[in-house]
Amino acid sequence: MKGVILSGGKGTRLAPVTLDYPKQLLPVMGKPILFYTIEYLLEAGINEICIIVSPETGSLIESAVKKKNFPASFEFVYQAEPLGLAHAVGMSKGFIDEGDDFVVLLGDNLFDKKLKSLITTFKETDASSLVLLKEVDRPYAFGVVQFDSETGKAQKLVEKPKTFVSKYAIVGVYLFKYEIFNAIANLNPSARGELEITDAIAAQVDLGQNVQTSILDSFWYDTGTLPGLITSNTRLLIANKNFDNRGADVRDSYILGDVFIAEGSIVQNCNIMGPVYIGPNTVIKNSTIGPFTSISENTILEDVEIQQSLIMQNCHLEKTKIVSSFVYKDTKVKDHALVLDEIFKGNNLCKTY
Ligand code: G1P
Repeated sequence: MKGVILSGGKGTRLAPVTLDYPKQLLPVMGKPILFYTIEYLLEAGINEICIIVSPETGSLIESAVKKKNFPASFEFVYQAEPLGLAHAVGMSKGFIDEGDDFVVLLGDNLFDKKLKSLITTFKETDASSLVLLKEVDRPYAFGVVQFDSETGKAQKLVEKPKTFVSKYAIVGVYLFKYEIFNAIANLNPSARGELEITDAIAAQVDLGQNVQTSILDSFWYDTGTLPGLITSNTRLLIANKNFDNRGADVRDSYILGDVFIAEGSIVQNCNIMGPVYIGPNTVIKNSTIGPFTSISENTILEDVEIQQSLIMQNCHLEKTKIVSSFVYKDTKVKDHALVLDEIFKGNNLCKTY
């Protein structure tokens, strides 16, 4: 079993941050989102991984993954144009041997499900494909699936349905046999001009092939928007209870709840209300931080108040209040009364939600 992670696309929903920086490398709890997806594969024993990237941001993804030295081999495939998920999966054909099975993940989705159990179901049912589903309130924004609740077999798949088909949305986790490449080869572009992986799987159902489903009953987040990023960070901070701040230099401060402060970071005269993640080489003085806040490495915070926000590396924030916002790397903010539901990049307010 091999793994394919789709990390191309233009990331327009997080622009301008993602015009020259891949959304898959934005950190949640101090770690790039893509690294979580790589770890999902490693945990399932998959260590041959192909990452589909875009020409705009692919080299940044390549160097970040290589620098991390994961115990896996990686192949990077450049997709010249974002022509759809099925087109991206099709780009991995040279990486998959005939007769091989493979897992496909979206590089900007976080979820709480062990891939091992999906692989077992896929093998035991001898499925052609398997899709992970989650019950959602707004099924029209996704690919959706009708299935037989006794056997789990998919009966109908529709991408972005105009009328009600099912409340079960396709989460970005797919298991395929090599034969999916035949279905992809026969696709026509959808109404939005893309080759849809949902249509490829729907064609397998139409041919009477066994497409299995599995239901996710815990969290799944698309991190491709500001609310998605903030919510994933909040959810992961809540899920992590093994926080530690023993290696940090904490002086005259009040620490409450689950707080991680990396070794060597300095916290002085602060109130920190967990859950909070504070990365390495960070200095925080005279500030109130948390809850639900992650601060990446090499950042200086002075006289700030930060709640439910993500601050990337190498930032310098002073005399500012930040709520439900994302501060891009290398940003300097001073004397800003309130940053609320905003993205900051290059010392400018970029986008308000
Ligand atoms: C894509 C898939 C869709 C799936 C969704 C999950 O949609 O086409 O079937 O439900 O990912 O995030 P897109 O994000 O391209 O609109």
